[in-house]
Amino acid sequence: MTQMQGAVTGQSATSSAPGKIILFGEHAVVYGRPAIAAPVHEVRACATVQPAPHGSGFRIEAVDIGRSFLLEAAPVDDPLAAAVRLTLAHLGVPPPDAVCTLTSTIPIASGMGSGAATAAALCRAVAAYLGRTLDAAALSALVYEVEKLHHGTPSGIDNAVVSYDRPIFYVRDHPPVHLSVGAPLYIVIADTGVRSLTKTVVAHVRRGWERDPARYDALFDQIGDLVMEARRLIEDGRVQELGMLMDENHALLAALGVSSPALDALTEAARLAGALGAKLSGAGRGGNVIALVEEDMIDEVVRALEEAGAARTIRTVVERERDGI
Ligand code: PMV
Repeated sequence: MTQMQGAVTGQSATSSAPGKIILFGEHAVVYGRPAIAAPVHEVRACATVQPAPHGSGFRIEAVDIGRSFLLEAAPVDDPLAAAVRLTLAHLGVPPPDAVCTLTSTIPIASGMGSGAATAAALCRAVAAYLGRTLDAAALSALVYEVEKLHHGTPSGIDNAVVSYDRPIFYVRDHPPVHLSVGAPLYIVIADTGVRSLTKTVVAHVRRGWERDPARYDALFDQIGDLVMEARRLIEDGRVQELGMLMDENHALLAALGVSSPALDALTEAARLAGALGAKLSGAGRGGNVIALVEEDMIDEVVRALEEAGAARTIRTVVERERDGI
């Protein structure tokens, strides 16, 4: 078995993709303002493609959600089938006889990019199985098409961050810019345990924007300005000041109507326990908060978040690229 891209046809191939957090700028990014996101390597989606007997078709087995189905029988808007079909069309090859097994440790519908990561792992594993490689830009474009099935108007940030697998500064319809990180950002992610569909929350914001475009555009502008400032602080390693921007971003997201009592309670608990700042991350209404912490405060903040009702916590660090890219 190969863990890498470029496996020989007929041998099994495995690929994985990380979860993600949006550090700054969600929702406003849908309306053309910039945003910042980073991969979360502690949780991953994984796809393995293995040969199957001649004539058996291409089967997808999504272990965590108990689905097993043949590609040819799947509806056109099935996101998993679409990831495979798009990849095969991109490579110009018919479906091989194979079984693709999917597993993931990324919480579903909680703003951690589980759909995008699963699609990315799947596209790459299919390509690798066929002895082909997909560069980050090609992969991101394929995953973007799949993301459209999850929610009609994705900004493209989720597919970009999981495909490029590095911290990015992102503006819709532009290639992602690699963000250099001046000092490590220790982040605690805390799950409210409340599932929330990105599509529903994005549609809610759109209705608000249609009703009162001046107010919403002003909020998006404020978020956009804050993201520009956050970019400078991240590059310069000015972590303390970054915490305050997280708090401000959370307040602006609350003004957009995408926070919730559970998200507010977790952000408040993190701040009281000594976090430098905290905000919801992703679409909101449920899902996760992220708290920026100093390294020696991580345990304390984790404890406080768990006491405040977090269903799960994940520790991660956003840092300079390990490969120096
Ligand atoms: O998929 P989520 O929940 O991480 O949300 C993505 C971020 C949004 O800005 C809310 C939507 C988008 O397409 O950028």
